[in-house]
Amino acid sequence: MRIIRAKDYDDMSKKAAEIMAAQINLKPDCLLGLATGSSPEGMYAELVKKYEAGMLDFSKVRSYNLDEYVGLPKDNDQSYFYFMNHHLFSKVNMNIENTVLPNGIAEDPTVECEQYNAMIEASGGADLQLLGIGHNGHIGFNEPDDHFTLGTHVVDLAPSTIEANSRYFASYDDVPKQAFSMGIKNIMDAKMILLVVSGEGKADAVNKAFFGPVTPEVPGSILQLHKNVVVVADEAALSQVGK
Ligand code: F6R
Repeated sequence: MRIIRAKDYDDMSKKAAEIMAAQINLKPDCLLGLATGSSPEGMYAELVKKYEAGMLDFSKVRSYNLDEYVGLPKDNDQSYFYFMNHHLFSKVNMNIENTVLPNGIAEDPTVECEQYNAMIEASGGADLQLLGIGHNGHIGFNEPDDHFTLGTHVVDLAPSTIEANSRYFASYDDVPKQAFSMGIKNIMDAKMILLVVSGEGKADAVNKAFFGPVTPEVPGSILQLHKNVVVVADEAALSQVGK
């Protein structure tokens, strides 16, 4: 695991965007595993700037996303499809046909999970999987548990995750209580993992996930076993390390 220290959120976003851009330039038809949330927002904005400056071509890039809320259709402004379209897909020359997210309103969630899982297995894993990390150490929506769930599944979101995500909704009660999430094997199948993390609120999760024991109680700790992980973390997120 390589940890790249950034000064602050902006610096983290710029450094992470350089890594994503290098991946796209090296392999224009690369398969990206993408994430939503506040952590990668700035990085997406940097990628859009690079595209606008003529430095990046997304026309052959393919992607699938980590997760989606159960019950939210694509056009709901809180859905993760909406987020991706708003922050990246509609702002660059990405072919929307080449992007995949779980269908939040799938009639049969079990079938949706099976199909998503099969799609990832058939792909052989992403060339680069982007991740954030939750305050409780979750990656994707793999919440702390007594075991790692390998494949795509429906998750009951932890109360702390619902609380954290309620900042985007009118109230706690409006936050969907379940999400589709790629599983740990789906994530670990990626050839490279890029995790972005910022802020003091994540310092405990960073310390436990990357410097503590590997345990499903801190799902992000599994990344210590992956051969090619780059963490771009700002100073505040690294502030608990070694304490
Ligand atoms: C998002 C995702 C989540 C977030 C995590 C951190 O697709 O899978 O694991 O990365 O909840 O969220 P933020 O970045 O909003 O703090």
